[in-house]
Amino acid sequence: MLLKGKNIIITGAGRGIGRAISIACAKEGANLGLISRTLEEISETKDIIQSQASSSKVVIKVADVTKYDDLSKAFKEFYDELGQFNGVVANAGYSRMWATHEFINEKFSEILDINVLGVFYTFKAAYGFMKKDDKKDKARFLITGSEAYPYAPQRLTAYVASKYAVVGMQKAMATEYKRENITFNMVLPTQVDTRLLRGKNAGDGNKPDHVLNPTELNDYYLFLLSDDANKVDDTLIFTYDIQDIKKLLHDAPVDKNDSWDNFKDYLKEKSSELYEKVKNLGKLIDFIISREK
Ligand SMILES: NC(=O)c1ccc[n+]([C@@H]2O[C@H](COP(=O)([O-])OP(=O)(O)OC[C@H]3O[C@@H](n4cnc5c(N)ncnc54)[C@H](OP(=O)(O)O)[C@@H]3O)[C@@H](O)[C@H]2O)c1
Repeated sequence: MLLKGKNIIITGAGRGIGRAISIACAKEGANLGLISRTLEEISETKDIIQSQASSSKVVIKVADVTKYDDLSKAFKEFYDELGQFNGVVANAGYSRMWATHEFINEKFSEILDINVLGVFYTFKAAYGFMKKDDKKDKARFLITGSEAYPYAPQRLTAYVASKYAVVGMQKAMATEYKRENITFNMVLPTQVDTRLLRGKNAGDGNKPDHVLNPTELNDYYLFLLSDDANKVDDTLIFTYDIQDIKKLLHDAPVDKNDSWDNFKDYLKEKSSELYEKVKNLGKLIDFIISREK
């Protein structure tokens, strides 16, 4: 089991990507502290975990990532029940779509509050409880970013601003905490079949083909939380690049798709552009190869 006995905190775990990651971490042996604002949804996440990974300890708290005192109290309770945190995933997020000149002022602020201030509060509230005493087993702080960085789709100005902001925050924090055995990494998903993208239609079985299921992101988070990523820091994992890598691995001859070392020249030949984008992610690609075997 990849995460046996590790304590992982995940915000936005009531549905969508956060729920999928929570279930995946529990199946890999992690104990979990889970947050969202909706008791019914977060309880359902816990029930699913307990039916699929009963040995995992799961503590749920209703808290709003934009309310520092509530978050701080929830994290103290996670610490009391689980012990120090090995990983924290700042995943809670929100978006709305309007032409910029028509964007409702309060909604613009709300998006920034959840997606930017919420990440800052999550780190600040978690910091004192993170396990940072072991160079060989560093604490992990993960952020769910978005392909809105760097693509900046129109009518999503507030969301784009927020997802650009967290890339800068990650860079600043990775430098600032380098000596403290905390790493900072980000998964930047393409479109995923969740309420954020598809509203009430999420999970209805009619998603367009290019839209990923939330579970298709699990391996990126598992890798970043695992021992394999102990030295991975300030990395951006763009899921659309890795989805392309998966297709190429699938089509590659067997002697080329069994390790990054054997695959990289084949990749360079097929797409030098993609090779340039992922050449520092060899450990992740090895991880994905091992998971798909
Ligand atoms: N879906 C996509 O296409 C896509 C693409 C790229 C990136 N992302 C990112 O993925 C992350 C997860 O989104 P998702 O797609 O899984 O959306 P989702 O299904 O709407 O889930 C969002 C989760 O965040 C929680 N949340 C929202 N605001 C919160 C707050 N103020 N405090 C605490 N929890 C809060 C929600 O629960 P409550 O509302 O009950 O609190 C819910 O559990 C976000 O950061 C999003 O930007 C999504």
